[in-house]
Amino acid sequence: MIIAIDGPAASGKSTVAKAVARRLGVRHLDTGAMYRAVAWLALEGEVPLGDAVVLTALAEANPVTFEYEEGEAIATSVRIAGRDVTAEIRYPVVDANVSAVAAVPGVRAALVCQQRILAEARDMVAEGRDIGTVVFPSAEVKVFLTASPEERARRRRIDLANQGHEVGQDEVQQRLEKRDTHDSTREASPLEAAADAEILDTTGLSVEQVVDEIVRRAEAAR
Ligand code: CDP
Repeated sequence: MIIAIDGPAASGKSTVAKAVARRLGVRHLDTGAMYRAVAWLALEGEVPLGDAVVLTALAEANPVTFEYEEGEAIATSVRIAGRDVTAEIRYPVVDANVSAVAAVPGVRAALVCQQRILAEARDMVAEGRDIGTVVFPSAEVKVFLTASPEERARRRRIDLANQGHEVGQDEVQQRLEKRDTHDSTREASPLEAAADAEILDTTGLSVEQVVDEIVRRAEAAR
């Protein structure tokens, strides 16, 4: 069974997807981490972010891997090109550049292919922007999470502060809006809810309420 959780930046996808995976005892797949890893590698190699051919070759030649401890639902690390980039992919410089990399159709094709292989013959809670629309269109459960821009900026500012990056609320909100506009208006697999996805506005809800709702749907679909 595939549980697809899509939504804009800082809509609560990661927290919710991880909790659902733990509750159901199935693996969590963070596809955003894969786009972030390729963006990190491009930045590290000073690849021009407008060069779709080089970016595609980079994504094709450097599969992203996740390490899971025995029986664990959540990966402990993300690796690309022999490097552990678990912390680096959350840096603000990656936030600022990942959407440009994720807009390249060849990069998307390479990562979608890797995502389908990672989910072969196993249940998975996959989170991203195009899981229910492109990667796993026949997922048994599809949820599209949203939250108000203010609430999303508040959540992301706290995440960043916990990682040692102090950024003001207004600036965080502007950066999120910029990335969402980029992700929603790109030609290749834009961020949008699948026609058959349940849209859940998490603004006034606790994590537990959202998780309960998704687990209930998953159990009904089993
Ligand atoms: O955690 P947050 O919502 O900020 O972002 P993320 O899920 O880590 O994704 C980072 C970026 O990767 C997004 O802004 C998209 O540009 C891209 N992405 C995508 O295009 N397709 C996906 N399935 C997942 C992420």
